[in-house]
Parts: sequence; structure tokens; C-alpha cells
Amino acid sequence: MPVLRDFFIHLSENQLLNSAAQRYGLKLGAQSVVAGTNIPEVIESIKELNRHGISCTVDNLGEFVYEKSEATKAKNQILDVIEAIHEHGVDAHISVKPSQLGLDIDYDFCFDNLMEIVGKAHEYNMHVNLDQETLDRLQPTFDLMEKISETYDNVGTVIQAYFFNAKENIEKYKDYRLRIVKGAYKEPANVAYQDKNDIDLNFIELIEYHLLHGKFTSIATHDHNVINHVKQFVKENNIPNDKFEIQMLYGFRKEMQLELAKEGYNFCTYVPFGNDWYGYFMRRLAERPQNVKLVTKQVFTK
Ligand code: FDA
Repeated sequence: MPVLRDFFIHLSENQLLNSAAQRYGLKLGAQSVVAGTNIPEVIESIKELNRHGISCTVDNLGEFVYEKSEATKAKNQILDVIEAIHEHGVDAHISVKPSQLGLDIDYDFCFDNLMEIVGKAHEYNMHVNLDQETLDRLQPTFDLMEKISETYDNVGTVIQAYFFNAKENIEKYKDYRLRIVKGAYKEPANVAYQDKNDIDLNFIELIEYHLLHGKFTSIATHDHNVINHVKQFVKENNIPNDKFEIQMLYGFRKEMQLELAKEGYNFCTYVPFGNDWYGYFMRRLAERPQNVKLVTKQVFTK
């Protein structure tokens, strides 16, 4: 349903709606996929997942950051999250979006913010993942990762399978811990596959490549066909469980998350929290329009 996908992606990019949503707290069903609005709430969610043997990667939600003061505020919040993870002794690491830390304002300023975050996480032996966003931020994010890794080894990023150059990038960055995803944004046909089958085939190829040649692999998907393929592939190639993990988003396919953890796979849930939930939530609706029922149910039961 590409029309619906485009509609939700378009909504996700609307800054006015984003600001309005922040004022009204978690609405439209967002609370089922966002683990609260503050640190105590997210720590409780992590503890609950940890109880089931699931580790977490925490995203302090935020986008549309065009002022340095906002990026500094986001950085301080992320530093607080790192402290809280350490203090509570929960099993979690951090995911950050470079745009939230000022990438669209000033590259060096963003780098400094990230260095503080990765440095603090390094003190606690905690990994930091730089989430990948749109095409214009793709290479700058790889550059940030490379520059940070001259000082710290606890940083990695994401490979988006819809990009034609994903294979080239995964080869170039194979020595990093990488999360491999299909890709969540709308990218033009001259740089990215548009057809689901093409994306799925490339996704599998990238996962296999990194499992065989790369550092630690995070396979981030809700697609059971891909997960079943991975299970078979690691068995056939004697890839040990400590070389990879499966990741899913908070609130999605909860039964399957628990089952995979129970089966003994390293499982990590991506746990977003905060007031800035709107863009994240709209992208989730774009990926899977069936989730619209989350919205309509909420509207009709209020
Ligand atoms: P997809 O949406 O293609 O679904 C495939 C099939 O799986 C469906 O046809 C259905 O059968 C089944 N399925 C999927 N969801 C289901 C559900 N909820 N219930 C039941 N069945 C379901 N993107 C990005 O660009 N940058 C990033 O940094 C990240 N980071 C990230 C982290 C994590 C942990 C995840 C899981 C995803 C991301 N993504 C991302 C998003 C990613 O690129 C992609 O858009 C979504 O994961 C959706 O694609 P899937 O691989 O889940 O399968």
C-alpha cells in the first residue's frame, strides 16, 4: 500500500503536527509502542524486558532539531539516561539520531555532542548506536562513527538495505558493530530499491555478509521469514550466538520477542521514550498500515 505509506511518511515530516503532538502527551495509540515519557518509566519498561532475558537499546525520542540549545538539551537528556541505566544496573545500551544532536545545524557541534555521549557510555562499557536517517545524513553519520572510533570502540551504526550502495557500505564498515534494517524513510528511485522483494533480497544478502565477515550483527526486523532464514543460516554456518542478536521495536510482535529470547537467541528490544513521539509513531504506521487500528481504536474508545 504505497499510497498509505507515503501519506504517513509525509505526516511524519510535518513539524507543526510534531510540535502539537509534544504538547498533548502520548496519544493516538502511541503509548503501545513508546515506553513512557520520562526516565523512571523507561527504566521500569527495561526492567520488565530484562526479566524475560531481553536486553534493550534506548532511544530518547527527538527530531526536527534546528537550534543548538535543543540539541544540547537532547544531549543532556541522553547523558541522564546513560547514568540511569548504569545506576539501576539494567541491561541496556543507547541508540541516538545524529540529527537530534545537531547534525543538520553544524557537523562539528554534533561530533562534540556525540563524543560526550559515547565517552560517558564508554565509562560504563555501554554501546552507542548511531541510528541512520535520510540519505542526506547517511555519509555524515558514517563519517561521525569513523571519527569517534579513533577514540572510542563502543560505537556502531545502521545499514539500510533499500540503498543501492548498502553492500558497498557494509563491506567498508564491516569491522563495526552494525544493525541491519530494511530502511524506514522514503528515498528516491535513483538511489534506493522501491520494490519490497528487491529490498528483502538485499536485506538477506547484507545480513549473511555481515554474519560471515563482520563484527557483531544486529538483525533488526519483525519479518518472520527473514528471522527463520537467519536461524537456518547461522546453524548451517556454525555462527555462534554471541556473534549476533535479533532486534525488534518495543510493542511489536511481543509474543515472538519472548519466544526468541526463550529459544536462547540474544534478543534486544528497541525502546523509545519521551515526548517527541510523533515522527517515530507515524513512520511505524507507514511501515505497517495495519497498525492504523491502533489509532482508530484509540479515537473510538476515548
Ligand atoms: P516489514 O515491515 O517489511 O514486514 C515484513 C512482514 O513481517 C510483514 O509482511 C508481516 O508478514 C510481518 N510483520 C511485520 N510487522 C509485523 C507485526 N507488527 N505483526 C505481525 N506481523 C508483522 N530504519 C532506519 O531507516 N534506520 C534505523 O536506524 C532503524 N532502526 C531500527 C531498529 C529496529 C530495532 C527495528 C526493528 C527497525 C529499525 N528501522 C530503522 C526500521 C526498519 O528499517 C523497517 O522500516 C521496519 O523494521 C519495518 O520492516 P521489517 O523488517 O520489520 O519488516
